[in-house]
Amino acid sequence: MKIAVVGTGYVGLVTGTCFSETGNQVVCVDVNEEKIKGLQNGVMPIYEPGLDVLFNRNVEEGRLKFTTSLKEGIEGAETIFLALPTPPGEDGSADLKYILKVADDLGKLMTQYAVIVDKSTVPVGTAELVSAAISRNATVDFDVVSNPEFLREGVAVEDFMKPDRVVVGTGSERAKKVMERLYAPLVRQGNPIIFMDERSAEMTKYAANAFLAMKITFMNEIANLCEKTGANVDHIRRGIGTDSRIGKRFLFAGIGYGGSCFPKDVQALAKTSADYAYDFRLLNAVMEVNKDQKRKLLPHLLAYFGGDLKDKTIAVWGLAFKPYTDDIREAPALENIRELLDLGAKVTAYDPEGMPNTKALLPGVTYCHTAYAALDDADALMIFTEWPQFRTPEFEKVSALLKNKVIFDGRNLYEPEHMKELGFAYFSIGRETVS
Ligand code: UDX
Repeated sequence: MKIAVVGTGYVGLVTGTCFSETGNQVVCVDVNEEKIKGLQNGVMPIYEPGLDVLFNRNVEEGRLKFTTSLKEGIEGAETIFLALPTPPGEDGSADLKYILKVADDLGKLMTQYAVIVDKSTVPVGTAELVSAAISRNATVDFDVVSNPEFLREGVAVEDFMKPDRVVVGTGSERAKKVMERLYAPLVRQGNPIIFMDERSAEMTKYAANAFLAMKITFMNEIANLCEKTGANVDHIRRGIGTDSRIGKRFLFAGIGYGGSCFPKDVQALAKTSADYAYDFRLLNAVMEVNKDQKRKLLPHLLAYFGGDLKDKTIAVWGLAFKPYTDDIREAPALENIRELLDLGAKVTAYDPEGMPNTKALLPGVTYCHTAYAALDDADALMIFTEWPQFRTPEFEKVSALLKNKVIFDGRNLYEPEHMKELGFAYFSIGRETVS
C-alpha cells in the first residue's frame, strides 16, 4: 500500500518506519526542511531503541522516503496519516491548528480517494472537524478515521509491531477494509482490531492514558500512606498486582508520572470535561496528587541539611522522564533541579541519554560523563530515573565519592534493609526511611 505520514515527530517516524517494514511504500512529510534533509541523509532525529535498524533497512531498500512537499508525499497514497503536534493551549485544551491546516491543504491537493487517519491524540470531535476542513475544498471522496496510538517511548517499535490492540474509529465500510488490510501483518497473533465510531476512538485514547495515570497516582497515594503507617509499598504492589482484576503493571510508586503524554492528556481530558460542564473529580485529584508527588523528596533533603542548601552540591542521577529515552518533557528531575538551584545548591548530573536535551534548558548544571563523576565531592545523591545502570552501583565507590552517605531515591531502586547494612541514610517512596 502507498502511505503518506504527515509529521515526522515521534509518532510519525515510528508509524512511517514500521509500516515500511511491513512492505508498504511510505513517504513521510514535514515542513521542517532541516529535519527532512537530515532524514534523507540517514539522520534519525530521535533516540528510540531498535528504530534505527528498521529505518536504515527501509531507506536502503527504497520503501521509506522523505519530503517537504505535501503534494508529492500524498501522490497515489491510499492512506494519509496525520501525526502532527497537538500542544496544550493555555487552558489545557489540545491546539488543533497544525492538524486543521494540513486538512485544509489536503482538500486542495487530493486527486483520488484516500483514508485520512488521525494518529495524534486529539479531543473528541476532531475527526469531524478534520473532515469538514477537507470537505471545504475536496473534489474527490475521502474518509477520516481515528486511529489513536498507544506506543510507549523506549519500546515504541515493539508496541507498534505487536500491539495489544488496534483501535479504529470509522463509520465507513470502505475505510474499514483499508485499515484491516494495513494492520493485518501486525495483528497476526490474534490481537484484535477494535472498530468503533470516531468519537469513541478519540475518547479511548484519553481514557487509557488517564486510567494509567490514575493507577500510578493511586499507588503514589498508597505509598504516602505506607510511610505514615509503617507499611511497605513494594509488598502492597506485589500483594495487589497478582490479582488479575488489578494487574501487575503500572503499579510502581515513584516521584510522579511525566513524559509527553500522561500530563498533557490528563489535562486535556479534564478540559474536555469542563467544556461539557462535567466535574471529573477523580481526574482533578490525579493532577493535584501528581504535582505534589514530583516534589516529594525535597522536604527530606532540606531537613537533612538543616533547611539550608547554600554551597551544597547535589548529585542527580537521571534526567529523562523514564529510562531508554532522551525525552525530558515533564520529567520530575527538571522541576527538582530548578528548585535546588533556586535554593542555592550546585547540581552535578548524569543521564545516559537525557543530557543533550537538558543542557539547553538548565545550563547552570554541571553535566558529567559518568554516574560516578557526578558524585565526586557531592553532598548527597538524588535519583529521578530508573536507568538499569543505577540499580546495582558499586556502593563502596559511591560512599568514597559522596561527602555524606545519603541517597534520596525517587524510584525505589534499593532495599532499605541493604542500605542500612551499608550505613547509608536512605529516603525512598512508600517505604521505611533509613536515617
Ligand atoms: C504513555 C502510554 O503508556 C502510551 O500508551 C501512550 O501512547 C503515551 O503515553 P510514555 O509516556 O512513553 O507512554 O511512558 P510510560 O512508560 O507509560 O510512562 C509514563 C510515566 O509514568 C513515566 O513518567 C513513568 O516513570 C511513570 N510510571 C509508569 C510510574 O511512575 N509508575 C509505573 O508503574 C509506570
